[in-house]
Amino acid sequence: MRLTVIGTGYLGATHAACMAELGHEVIGVDVDPEKVAALRAGQVPFHEPGLGELIARHTATGRLRFTTSYEEAGAFGEVHFVCVGTPQRPGSEAADLSYVESAFAAIAGHSAGDALLVGKSTVPVGTAEALAGRYAAEVAWNPEFLREGYAVEDTLRPDRLVLGVRSARAESILRAVYEPVLAAGTPLVVTDFPTAELVKTAANAFLATKISFINAMAEVCEAAGGDVRRLSEALGHDDRIGARFLRSGVGFGGGCLPKDIRAFAHRADELGVSLAFLREVDSINMRRRDRVVELARELCGGAVLGARITVLGAAFKPDSDDIRDSPALDVAARLGLDGADVTVYDPAAMDNARKAFPLLGYAASAEEALRGADLVLLLTEWPQFRELDPERTRSLVGRPHIVDGRGVLDADDWTAAGWRFRALGRPAPAGEER
Ligand code: UGA
Repeated sequence: MRLTVIGTGYLGATHAACMAELGHEVIGVDVDPEKVAALRAGQVPFHEPGLGELIARHTATGRLRFTTSYEEAGAFGEVHFVCVGTPQRPGSEAADLSYVESAFAAIAGHSAGDALLVGKSTVPVGTAEALAGRYAAEVAWNPEFLREGYAVEDTLRPDRLVLGVRSARAESILRAVYEPVLAAGTPLVVTDFPTAELVKTAANAFLATKISFINAMAEVCEAAGGDVRRLSEALGHDDRIGARFLRSGVGFGGGCLPKDIRAFAHRADELGVSLAFLREVDSINMRRRDRVVELARELCGGAVLGARITVLGAAFKPDSDDIRDSPALDVAARLGLDGADVTVYDPAAMDNARKAFPLLGYAASAEEALRGADLVLLLTEWPQFRELDPERTRSLVGRPHIVDGRGVLDADDWTAAGWRFRALGRPAPAGEER
């Protein structure tokens, strides 16, 4: 089939490449000429394992092209996927729908009346209905659930496909688009517009709630002398609860979970339904960042002013160079404002971090970042940080003080190597003040 994908960010670039992989002819459209030029040259402007190879392969075969022209895309595509962003609106909890609105208007203005316009962006419930009334071409909603770092895998082998459709025709077109995915046995849910939109926001709200639940338990463990890692392990053995997304630490960040729970609570208010618990989920998440700052102060003797603090991690999670709402950089920036001499190292997100936080210090390697440090904060659990050797690391730093903000280091090993070791969700060792 001939498909277009509007927006070539994480979602759009991945969707376009994966649709080509499924055998379709695809044009990716973006208003940013630089992005289009880079993609045409086979360069992916962000870190996403496997995506570069896929784009290079399919631009070489000619099955995947990129353009800035809606006219070209409209004339070409039978199905148009809208994959633009829905960031948080400044000064509000609500989602900014302006990119979605203009993408739909632009492609609808150039496409044939029998084309199918498919929204994939995460939107407040009611958006598809509002858009469907505006254009000659039919609208459908097909939310995506891809995770950064696993975007290709999640698109080619998703846990489920959700199609929000208003006609048998739209359903059969989308079934044809995803034929190889469906043939592999992927569960399919065909539903109405509001349910399709809600599946996405509900899924992200649930995931955020699960993380904040275990992080609230971490707060209780800190107060009561428990160990949240063991608690999480034991809870996870219950099949009804499940172990995934039950890792406590400095909390969730990124371009999706934080803004999606805010937009969802806001939209629910508009509908007269209270999702106040999502605001508590948000607060618990933010309190974990406060807690790391508090532990840093404690380990620096009450104030961080002048202390050399090494922050390991800048991306909001490993296998990503995305720093949007990154807990690691939030903590680093707060400590910097409090007068600490902060040095950040991240294996993938250095350029993005430098642009967003130019006043923080940056090192070219973990080793360089660690040299002479008064305090080390592990805030993004990249494998190379999880595997740090306590003895060797001790030989680099000035003072062996560490906070494990992701619960990935072995406290006994680090303590045995002479470190003053603190982690979230565990009481302070005997003899140390809380
Ligand atoms: C999230 C969802 O997982 C995807 O299904 C969804 O499609 C995507 O948002 C989106 O809306 O586009 P993503 O933001 O890539 O994906 O990241 P996750 O892997 O969900 O991680 C989110 C945050 O939660 C990270 O900061 C991670 O460190 C944190 N996290 C995750 C925890 O603190 N504990 C956990 O147990 C799991």
